[in-house]
Amino acid sequence: MANDSSAVLDAISPDSIADPFTPPADSSLWQKNFLLGAATASYQIEGAVREDGRLPSIWDTFSATPGKVLAGDTGEVACDHYHRWESDVDLLAGLGLEAYRLSTAWPRVMDEAGVPNRKGLDFYKRLLTRLKEKGITTMVTLYHWDLPQHLEDRGGWLNRDTAYRFAEYADLMSRELTGLVDAWATLNEPWCSAYLGYGNGHHAPGRANGRYATQAMHHLLLAHGLAVPILRANDPDSQKGIVANVGRGTANSDSAADQRAAHLFEVQHNAWILDPLLKGAYPQDLFELWPHTEPLVLEGDMETIAAPLDFLGINYYFRTNVESDGAHGFTEAPPEGVERTQMGWEVHPDGLRDLLIGFHGTYANLPPIYITENGMASDDKVTDGKVDDSQRISFLKRHLAAVDQAIKAGVKIRGYFLWSLMDNFEWAFGYERRFGIVHVDYGTQKRTIKRSAELVTKFLKERKARG
Ligand code: FCB
Repeated sequence: MANDSSAVLDAISPDSIADPFTPPADSSLWQKNFLLGAATASYQIEGAVREDGRLPSIWDTFSATPGKVLAGDTGEVACDHYHRWESDVDLLAGLGLEAYRLSTAWPRVMDEAGVPNRKGLDFYKRLLTRLKEKGITTMVTLYHWDLPQHLEDRGGWLNRDTAYRFAEYADLMSRELTGLVDAWATLNEPWCSAYLGYGNGHHAPGRANGRYATQAMHHLLLAHGLAVPILRANDPDSQKGIVANVGRGTANSDSAADQRAAHLFEVQHNAWILDPLLKGAYPQDLFELWPHTEPLVLEGDMETIAAPLDFLGINYYFRTNVESDGAHGFTEAPPEGVERTQMGWEVHPDGLRDLLIGFHGTYANLPPIYITENGMASDDKVTDGKVDDSQRISFLKRHLAAVDQAIKAGVKIRGYFLWSLMDNFEWAFGYERRFGIVHVDYGTQKRTIKRSAELVTKFLKERKARG
């Protein structure tokens, strides 16, 4: 490990920190093969959007459209990671994190005709080579929402052809980066791409139509299914999977109507993605919730989508309490007096445990799981060079305990990635919402390690010392 990284570790003396984080002695998190890492995504951290031949993405277009992103923020500079990647890797290694989940930007690595962009590819080669040298396990997400704008101009995920273009992109990346990646995740959160991007328009490309959402989802999942065998052929030694955001829906009462509402919430958030991937079929209840929205599915598509996975990535943030809307759907019934984060999301670690145990019961072929994102936003401030993010420390501890409970109930969970390594561009919320365990001053790009990061480091150091 380079000197500068060890300096970070040494500065964090276990004795000097009162510790509200370290898991109890019987926690599975002490097992060394349970990976603990952090996650980021290209558009949220890289900046340099016009450099080295990068083409515009749908998020460049969306964030430049007035009224779409809070305070008019864009990813133009973000955390300037494209230029600061070396010191950011040192920071990650210095924190003792064992794994890093990052994403590659499609518009950086290919032009409109599919011709590789060497400079963009070299950036990821350098980055992944350095991570490997540092002994950090890598998970690379191929699509964390930055679709090339020229593909959106031809219909984006509503155009079946985009799935085939994605397969070409996956082919290029897995040929170029073979041997440097431990795990490939095809897509991040297809629910957000399909529903927020094409269903309600809160995310890029900002289109809003219920039928669009189900068709976009089908093409996203098809893209995933087409890519998996390509990744296997080009890079046989790595794991292949996908990352899904999942939502816990609880019923506001015992009434049959509210119970049904909670069921439909989870169908819309979870089964819509997991059923096609793991059962090869869309849940029919979805089309009761959203009548007349069945996507156009061609022969063989569902088999392609259900290609066997080596892992399933699960992103979890909060639960939603719902009641019947009096018709065929659900409506939110937010509870009073519960703990919430800066996003307004309810802190509910049991939801993570219950979902994991539920999936284990529902899907006979559930692959091993990584928690690929979990974390929270708070209005963190630097005071005397320190950031005391005590709500985050408690949040992480409780969610890791929920993961431990799920493991003890028999769910195979291989690791956990905090969202996020550092504060970054939080999509429609811009830079106001801080999810990092490292604080970023966007004026100076100074990184300040928050107390949560110190405590994660302390735990990892202790775990390592136990051998
Ligand atoms: C997830 C996204 C991630 C981040 C977190 C807070 O939905 O995958 O990029 O924005 O939410």
